[in-house]
Amino acid sequence: MYTQKVINIFKNPKNAGGLHGANATSKVTDNSCGDIIKLYLKINEDGIIEEAKFKTFGCTASIASSSMLCDMVKGLSIEEAEEITGNDILDELGGLPAEKVHCCELADEALHLAIDDYFKRLEKEQRKLEEN
Ligand code: FES
Repeated sequence: MYTQKVINIFKNPKNAGGLHGANATSKVTDNSCGDIIKLYLKINEDGIIEEAKFKTFGCTASIASSSMLCDMVKGLSIEEAEEITGNDILDELGGLPAEKVHCCELADEALHLAIDDYFKRLEKEQRKLEEN
């Protein structure tokens, strides 16, 4: 059974959609169930996550986990966001059925890959500047 919180988020996933100007993105797939999460972050020059959006093709729990994750990271520094775990998302949702706990892990994986993407982009920009 899903908590009322999970059902409410699923019915109104306010963070759903793409994000113009995103400078950190990721796409993860859970090979066992096929759910896909795409995450978009906008990180400012001070390293603060200003905006977060998602596009998820999957179950109720993966959509709720993605939306909750976006709520959780907004306003955090990259370092603070890196500390977030799948369990933190699970706690914020008020729990999930045991067979759906991996949905939180998938959202967490999306977050960490998006942060990796941000640093890769920074490195690339740095290299370009050095070449010019
Ligand atoms: Fe696999 Fe939701 S059932 S991520």
